[in-house]
Amino acid sequence: MPRECRPGETRVAATPETVRRLAARGCTFVVERGAGQASGYDDASYEEAGAALVDPSSEQWSQADVVLAVQGSDLAQQRSELASLKPGALLLGLLEPHGNDALKQRFEAGRVTALALELLPRISRAQSMDVLSSQANIAGYKAVLLASAALDRYVPMLMTAAGTIQPARALILGAGVAGLQALATARRLGAVAYVSDVRPAAKEQVESLGGRFIDPPELDQKPGEAGGYAKQATEAFLAEQRRQLTEQLALADMVICTAQVPGKKAPRLIDDAMLQHMRPGSVVVDLAVAQGGNCEGTVPGQTVFRHGVQLVAGDGLPCSVANHASALYSRNIAALLELLLNTTAEGASSVNLDLDDEIVSGCLFSHNAPESAGGAA
Ligand code: NAI
Repeated sequence: MPRECRPGETRVAATPETVRRLAARGCTFVVERGAGQASGYDDASYEEAGAALVDPSSEQWSQADVVLAVQGSDLAQQRSELASLKPGALLLGLLEPHGNDALKQRFEAGRVTALALELLPRISRAQSMDVLSSQANIAGYKAVLLASAALDRYVPMLMTAAGTIQPARALILGAGVAGLQALATARRLGAVAYVSDVRPAAKEQVESLGGRFIDPPELDQKPGEAGGYAKQATEAFLAEQRRQLTEQLALADMVICTAQVPGKKAPRLIDDAMLQHMRPGSVVVDLAVAQGGNCEGTVPGQTVFRHGVQLVAGDGLPCSVANHASALYSRNIAALLELLLNTTAEGASSVNLDLDDEIVSGCLFSHNAPESAGGAA
């Protein structure tokens, strides 16, 4: 496991807990010194778990059968040692696979097999491996904490000697994993929460968490659903949705934007004119900012003010909860790797990629292993 190299990336792909767990399946771990430092896992704890620590320039990388990463795309492009992965080596990580043909070609040229965790199918059997879910959950939680801290009002209803304070009103756009966690967190803090989504299945989930569902506009061109995800909406639908949301925005104290369509630009749900209708002092946290943003004017990595409304970029929020984000990410990776491991009665393990398994074929980004691929992991 190499040390992550993307600026601001604080997570790590294996923690001492998962090193132990995979060692019990016959894996030998080589960890780059300092890999877990930013997430609160020091070198000594990896050594105690049985990992060997190596320096960055170590030649060990070219001998690895499996490389575990968070930002696998950055590592593959920026770490020269990783360019020397042996043919048939397996890389597990986030690879930003949509439209990333250059990386795919690079792996194919090096005959590296790579599994992109973003492509994991949304099926029950894969839930324990679902990195997007575990990290979106954290983002939804942290977004509400950021909004609450930035808000110029209390969140819960309070009855004080000086009079009663009404609860804050939260508007959550998108009721996927992040949106539902944002809803649960906002409710725990005492907010009244309204939630919008285009998938009909979201209504029941929102209501079961105490949220009030905003039905999508009644239009013929309603976006469909595929594999649990929303399909891209037409511009006519989005225009109607914006019209519908203007009234809600005027009443909201905090808005948490989580609406996304995999591999596409995020739907634009709040424009500048809508921001003008919002109460000055209200807060928008946009988790979709890296995909173009649900809200006009949000800037990646920054907080900006527009018409008195605070627009907070919600990119990279899991990295601000690095210890738990890593604990969950690494358990996801361990569950996926366990699926791929063949362990003999003597305790030796090898990687077996069963391409008939929809989990493996679903997240296969490049596959160039020779027929006899595998070896001790
Ligand atoms: P996501 O991050 O791609 O999108 C977030 C939400 O935005 C989705 O609920 C989507 O419907 C919504 N959205 C898209 N366009 C919108 C618009 N114009 N207005 C309002 N909302 C809009 O999705 P996420 O959170 O990764 O997962 C989506 C669903 O997948 C989950 O709700 C769940 O049902 C399913 N899922 C299944 C899993 C499993 O079975 N293993 C694991 C995780 C999720």
